Amino acid sequence: MRLYVSMTAAPRSHETVLAALPAHRREVFEARLERWWPDLLEGLAEVYDDADAVADRVVALAARAYAERDDDLHALDLRRTLAPDWFQRPETVGYAAYVDRFAGTLRGVADRAAYLRDLGVTYLHLLPLLEPRDGDNDGGYAVKDYRAVRPDLGTMDDLRDLTRTLRAQGISVCLDLVLNHVAAEHEWAVRARAGDPTYRAYFLVHPDRTVPDAYEATLPEVFPDFAPGSFTWDDDLDGWVWTTFNRWQWDVSWANPDVFCEYADIVLNLANHGVEAIRLDAIAFIWKRLGTSCQNQPEVHALTQALRTVTRIACPATVFKAEAIVGPRDLVQYLGTGRHHGKVSDLAYHNGLMVQGWSMLASGDVRLASHALQQLDPVPASTAWVTYARCHDDIGWAIDDGDAAAVGVDGFAHRSFLADFYSGEFPGSWARGLVFQHNPATGDRRISGSLASLAGLECGDPHAVDRILLLHALVLGWGGLPVLWMGDEVGLLNDAHWAEDPAHADDNRWVHRPVLPWPVVDEHDLLRAVRRLVRARGRTPHLHASTGTEVLDPHDTGVLLTLRQHPLGPMVGAYNVTATERWVWGDRLRAVGLDPHHSVDRVSGVTPALAGPGDVRLAPYQAVWLTAP
Ligand code: GLC
Repeated sequence: MRLYVSMTAAPRSHETVLAALPAHRREVFEARLERWWPDLLEGLAEVYDDADAVADRVVALAARAYAERDDDLHALDLRRTLAPDWFQRPETVGYAAYVDRFAGTLRGVADRAAYLRDLGVTYLHLLPLLEPRDGDNDGGYAVKDYRAVRPDLGTMDDLRDLTRTLRAQGISVCLDLVLNHVAAEHEWAVRARAGDPTYRAYFLVHPDRTVPDAYEATLPEVFPDFAPGSFTWDDDLDGWVWTTFNRWQWDVSWANPDVFCEYADIVLNLANHGVEAIRLDAIAFIWKRLGTSCQNQPEVHALTQALRTVTRIACPATVFKAEAIVGPRDLVQYLGTGRHHGKVSDLAYHNGLMVQGWSMLASGDVRLASHALQQLDPVPASTAWVTYARCHDDIGWAIDDGDAAAVGVDGFAHRSFLADFYSGEFPGSWARGLVFQHNPATGDRRISGSLASLAGLECGDPHAVDRILLLHALVLGWGGLPVLWMGDEVGLLNDAHWAEDPAHADDNRWVHRPVLPWPVVDEHDLLRAVRRLVRARGRTPHLHASTGTEVLDPHDTGVLLTLRQHPLGPMVGAYNVTATERWVWGDRLRAVGLDPHHSVDRVSGVTPALAGPGDVRLAPYQAVWLTAP
């Protein structure tokens, strides 16, 4: 690893690009460049020998994008830099949806804005919509053209119109940036196959199996079932190309600065179309190192820091969201630890919380979750976890063996139990999931299934709705940016017809990606309850993400206890993960500075039910957020 020591001054070559701009615009750019240049250079120097030259190219790209940026987006940059905590606020609530499955087309999404507003949504993650390869494309994660929208969904102009329309209604748009790989049909890959050495160097190609075999000795399998191995032979390349995911998703080489510049320019283009959050898809995989799992390498964070600086200079309204579905010990780095503190992604998926949520429900026991969540380091105060109960992917049982052992549980056995439970095989299970990517070598069995089907609604379990609401209360009450998954708010069950599309038939993640049926959603009890929870969150300032969540040692194995020491006073979250009545001891509340007799439950908006010396009663699966009134 190289560390940059002598900080040179920022280059001047961008001045020509900016020459035609009014003086105040030039001044703003210069001020930002001065502020972020050291971070840009530091990030690049950890990866590239010629960091100065790369930084120079990047600044020129940033200057061009800045010069082309619309006035309304410059105004947004100003507003966001005045309120950089916009995504940390309790009023910020996310929703994730496929454009076609939610509203048909990009234009259709604008027509559904009222539904989102009623739900309290202020941040909309639209799942991949840039032009993918034809046929199977991993749900859009095999992109053929980053500068075009999937034709049946609309055009880049429609995207720009949509972001503008939604922004006017207080909704920010998040889009995926697939930056570990491109579709084999992407122009870079086409040119590489045609023999262009510049583009061949965009990929990781090896003439024979020597190097691939050496890497594969320590590489985990992502899709062992339908895409075993991490390299694919290509006749035109006359070599093995790195394909972590499917054989038609070619990993790009981030060791090549041309690749960095390409992606910097793609980010700038999306930002200039009004995209406010960029989801860094599969970011953990972008740096490869022999003898490792080729995930979470230090260079990933250096590259993110450099890329993030580009947006801070040209379009600071744009934030980054890391999608790193990795083990608990590797997660916090994506929000910036050590020298990258506060310099990488602003948001990151809290995979650990999601997994522990399901683990607690299956076992009716919070000890493992409490211990595991206690092990996570605090995150920088300027960042936030993306909290979610379910997403478009499978659930991988990221339970650390050490965490399990610390509470007397065998990690492997617990992961097997969770796979049995959520596939419905465990006696008495109320879940109806499907096993995804059974790996006989490791025994891993990930799980697909909609939140409602996994929570018991499909098999008519009487507590299914309570569980759905408990998980929503947990993600809304954690103090991050909660993202609700399309259909979960109305309890959509598994899609019985998921395999009918031949392009989906191999991939049972489509079982939990159903079409949202309109207009049934409007009159739904569950929807009303979710709306109430979202409103309750908005009225709870203690949930601002700049304050961290501490997990308390449980006094009841069925109740997860969280504490947020906010300047306004403490907030205790209590989550009963069992089907029986439980209590939160008054003494525990007093010990953290909360008098139960003078407290309010922000979830229900009323004084909690008390008994004895101020013990708070929890009904089966009830969640409370207790604060001073
Ligand atoms: C991310 C996506 C997932 C996709 C993978 C490869 O994890 O969420 O759906 O399969 O990246 O792009």
